[in-house]
Amino acid sequence: MTATLTVDAELADHLVRFATLAPSVHNTQPWHFVRRDDGLDLRADRTRQLTVLDPDGRQLVQSCGAALHHLRVAARGAGLDPTVVLVPDPADPDLLARVVLRQGRPPGPDEVASAVAQLSRSTARGRFVEEALPEALLDELRIGVEGEGARLRVVRASELIDVQVLVSRAEAYLETDPAYREELARWVRDGGPDGIPIEALGEQTDRAELVPGRVFLSRPGSATVDPPVAEHPSLVLLLTDGDNSRDWMVAGQALSNLLLQCAQRGVVAQPIGQVTDIPSTRQALAAALGVIGRPQMLLRLGRGVSGHHTLRHGPEDVLDV
Ligand SMILES: Cc1cc2nc3c(=O)[nH]c(=O)nc-3n(C[C@H](O)[C@H](O)[C@H](O)COP(=O)(O)O)c2cc1C
Repeated sequence: MTATLTVDAELADHLVRFATLAPSVHNTQPWHFVRRDDGLDLRADRTRQLTVLDPDGRQLVQSCGAALHHLRVAARGAGLDPTVVLVPDPADPDLLARVVLRQGRPPGPDEVASAVAQLSRSTARGRFVEEALPEALLDELRIGVEGEGARLRVVRASELIDVQVLVSRAEAYLETDPAYREELARWVRDGGPDGIPIEALGEQTDRAELVPGRVFLSRPGSATVDPPVAEHPSLVLLLTDGDNSRDWMVAGQALSNLLLQCAQRGVVAQPIGQVTDIPSTRQALAAALGVIGRPQMLLRLGRGVSGHHTLRHGPEDVLDV
């Protein structure tokens, strides 16, 4: 085995800068990195947990899992070989992963493309075009997700109405909770590196979405008389076998893999988080689709308008020695 590297400040800075490009729930960026001589530790930053939406920290840990995958991809892009140990330690539950870095083989073209995709990927909340994605492409995405230890289930046309009812029910339930609305409002921003900028929310009116995205802002409908164009994105459900912190780390890494694969193929993606936010609709979703395992995230994938670039905190805020 190749000897480990000494990770200097410049390398740590480079890797963490890429890791922080990962998606996170409401762009909370609930991560913290610690540089060691031979690698980096990834820790959860519980001060950034959404206590109303995410009381058990599932989405916080998923977000950290996505950052871990981004870090792995960046390491391979730089010709390094990352070894990851997921370390949920009862004595230190916020230490989520320990990454050891060694000099590796030069990156292949796919690995370089994946690292580059981190720079352009974003959550797409605009319109999707009419046609669904080809099955062969969905199969490629599924294989990538399985490589991370999770599963991807494509929602069939005959199941769409059931899913739509559950998503709408979840959204309606959340909307009645003032604490949810207050927390959401705190994370929709008009500047700065925290939260979701208003410009990233897309036009949420006059759309024919069968399965609606999260309503981040209530906005009046416009006066247009043109009928909306029907949108037919593919809907996919990311699943894990279990539902503990380690499974959430697996889900986050699989999510990052999925989104980077999509970005490389010109496919845009949006999580439809409401349905898995609430335990009852999360459970009902698994039953409606007849899946064994724990739903971690429903997403729509398709061709459409790319998302808006959302700012991040840089390594100076999230990396310690
Ligand atoms: C666990 C998790 C849950 C998310 N849920 C939603 C959601 O319900 N709706 C949505 O539009 N985006 C959702 N997102 C996307 C984040 O809002 C997005 O990643 C963040 O604002 C950063 O923007 P970017 O992905 O464009 O870089 C979620 C992301 C993660 C990791």
